[in-house]
Amino acid sequence: MNTDYQVLVEQLNALLSQDLYYVPALSNASALLWEGLEDINWAGFYIVRQDQLVLGPFQGKVACIHIQKGKGVCGTAWEKDEVQLVPNVHKFPGHIACDSASNSEIVIPIHSNGEVIAVLDIDSPAFNRFSLKDCEGLTDFASVLEDNVNWN
Ligand code: SME
Repeated sequence: MNTDYQVLVEQLNALLSQDLYYVPALSNASALLWEGLEDINWAGFYIVRQDQLVLGPFQGKVACIHIQKGKGVCGTAWEKDEVQLVPNVHKFPGHIACDSASNSEIVIPIHSNGEVIAVLDIDSPAFNRFSLKDCEGLTDFASVLEDNVNWN
């Protein structure tokens, strides 16, 4: 799958030039990913609020609202502050199945002032959907948000 992440980053920058508030920024960011990536069934954000992650703007089926630190793929990405590239979610201990159709997943931490403030989460019904190239492209995409978004 050959996603043009450069185009997605350009489109994201164009949208952010209108408003940096995190609600429209993350909403349109999730819509861009939803349209731009093939073979995915969820794309969106969880935001750090006090001691847990809460569901943020997304595209896809309804999802769990709260995720504790260290739980599931998202909570692990937050706790370890590391990208989680999961070829088979059924082999990931503690994976939280919001949509039973999901088989692979990637989660990218997003920072503000050196701390994780949100995670970008993308699910796919295909096994092994996300390559290292996707990981690089999505990390670039997330870093545009990191460098620009106003979280308050
Ligand atoms: N699978 C995630 C939960 C969020 S849904 O995929 C939207 C996890 O294990 O953290």
